[in-house]
Amino acid sequence: MNIDGNTILITGGGSGIGKALATRFLARGNEVIVCGRRNEVLDGLKKQYPGVHTRNCDVASGNERKELAESVIREFPAINVLVNNAGIQRRVDLTRETGWGITRSEVDTNLNAPINLCQLFYSHFAQKQSAAFINVTSGLSFVPLANVPIYCATKAALHSFTLSLRWQLKDSQIEVIEVIPPAVDTDLQAPGLHKFGANVDEFADHVFAELEKGETEIAYGTAITASRASREDLNIIFEHMNEAFH
Ligand SMILES: NC(=O)c1ccc[n+]([C@@H]2O[C@H](COP(=O)([O-])OP(=O)(O)OC[C@H]3O[C@@H](n4cnc5c(N)ncnc54)[C@H](OP(=O)(O)O)[C@@H]3O)[C@@H](O)[C@H]2O)c1
Repeated sequence: MNIDGNTILITGGGSGIGKALATRFLARGNEVIVCGRRNEVLDGLKKQYPGVHTRNCDVASGNERKELAESVIREFPAINVLVNNAGIQRRVDLTRETGWGITRSEVDTNLNAPINLCQLFYSHFAQKQSAAFINVTSGLSFVPLANVPIYCATKAALHSFTLSLRWQLKDSQIEVIEVIPPAVDTDLQAPGLHKFGANVDEFADHVFAELEKGETEIAYGTAITASRASREDLNIIFEHMNEAFH
């Protein structure tokens, strides 16, 4: 991917991995629009990086996604890159009753939103000389951590969708890129829970270097192992990982 001169929408770009990518794209002179639900986070980012554009949007809502896509295309007609980064992760005990609304919001955010946003931006991107969809999946797309079962199911499905999207767009000028993080030290699930994970800046530097090389499947650390493992190896990783987090 050419990482200069784009106009880029990053969902969930106010914190964590999205913010680390947003600031790197900004430093390379790209126009960057970031969306999220918390105004204080968006305002804080804008204060730190006045060049960034922010939008309040809950991507779990179909109406808000449509409004976001329409307003971004209207105000930033040069938009040619979408980074589907927003995500949530919840611990779910499948032996206890959980309200469907809670489950559905995880599916809406992590899976329905990126699929729908790709659809909403496709016809606009198809008119550009170059464009890209960048989907942030997870090492857990390949081997689930059982205490976050809905999250893992959504990320496995997003990985699958990304492969199909890439195949369907293979003769077009739209690149389809998958970023596959391992555990990264962000506020995902709750502040402090991912302290054991990779440093977010080191991870984002790696992603940028790989994007610049033209890679379309970008994993890091343990996610490299998981994304390339055989079924037998995945069974072993599954046992070890779930024993460790029991
Ligand atoms: N950290 C890890 O260990 C790890 C590993 C593998 C994959 N990932 C993936 O990386 C991506 C980024 O996560 P992160 O680790 O950077 O966590 P994070 O710091 O919690 O960032 C998630 C971002 O998404 C936004 N967001 C969540 N729900 C949203 C919604 N409904 N609408 C709009 N924005 C929403 C959040 O902002 P608001 O709350 O203000 O909306 C937040 O800025 C996620 O897709 C995650 O699954 C993370």
